[in-house]
Amino acid sequence: MKPPSLRLGVNVDHVATIRNARGGRHPDPVRAAKLAIAAGCDGITAHLREDRRHINDDDIARLKAEIDKPLNMEMAATEEMLAIALRTKPHAVCLVPEKRTERTTEGGLDADGQRAQLAPVVHALKHAGIRVSLFVGAQPAQIEAAVALGAPVVELHTGAWCDALNEGRAREAEAEWQLLRAGAALAKSYGLEVHAGHGLDYASAETIAVLPEIVELNIGHYLIGEAVFEGLAETVRFMLAAMERGRAKAGA
Ligand code: PXP
Repeated sequence: MKPPSLRLGVNVDHVATIRNARGGRHPDPVRAAKLAIAAGCDGITAHLREDRRHINDDDIARLKAEIDKPLNMEMAATEEMLAIALRTKPHAVCLVPEKRTERTTEGGLDADGQRAQLAPVVHALKHAGIRVSLFVGAQPAQIEAAVALGAPVVELHTGAWCDALNEGRAREAEAEWQLLRAGAALAKSYGLEVHAGHGLDYASAETIAVLPEIVELNIGHYLIGEAVFEGLAETVRFMLAAMERGRAKAGA
C-alpha cells in the first residue's frame, strides 16, 4: 500500500533572527515564506516566543494575511499567546514548552505533567476551529496525555535523535530512533495525526520519511542555514553587477 504523502512545513523563524540582528525590515520572513511556498512546501511554521526574539506580532499577522498555504503557529500555552492565536486564527497551533534562557525548544512539552494547564488552552483553540498539536517526546505517557487532552495531532521532537546522529553517538541515536518509531506507531494507533520536527537535515529527513505514520515534517534552522550556501554566490553576482552598473554611470 502506498504510504500517505509527507508534507513539509517550513519554519521561517531564523529569517527573522537575521532581520532582528540589525532591526529594520530585511530580510523579511513573509517574503521567505512566499518563496518557500513557490518552491513547493505545504505550509509555513512560525514560533511567536514570549520574548519575541525572532518572529514578532506583526510577522504573524502578515503571514496569516499574505500567504496562501496553511500557517502553523508555534506558541507556549500562555494566556497572552492564546489571545493572539484566537485573534489571528492560524490554520494550526503547535503548543511547545518555552524557557526564556533556552536557545531553542530543547525538549518536548510535559503534556502528562501539565494536563491541567494545557486542557483549557487545547479546548479554546479547538473550539475556535484551530487544529491543535502538542510538541512532545515520543514516550508513551506523553502520547497518551495528548489523547486524553483531546489534541488531534502530536509533533514528535526529533532533536535528541538528530543531536546524537550529528555527534556520532551511534547507540544513543539508535535508541532515540527506536523511541520515535514506536512513538509514531503508538500515536497513529490512537488515531492521532503524527508530525515530527526539530534539528532535521537532508539526511535525517530522508531517514524519518520511511515512517509511514508521519505525515508532516516541520523544518527551519537547517533550511535557512543551507539557503546561505545555495544563495550566496548568486547574491554576490547581483551585487557585483549593481556596482558595475553604478561605476559605468560615473564614466558616462
Ligand atoms: N517543530 C517545532 C515544534 C519547533 O519548535 C521547531 C523549532 O522552532 C521546529 C519544528 C523546527 O526545528 P528546526 O528549526 O531545528 O528545524
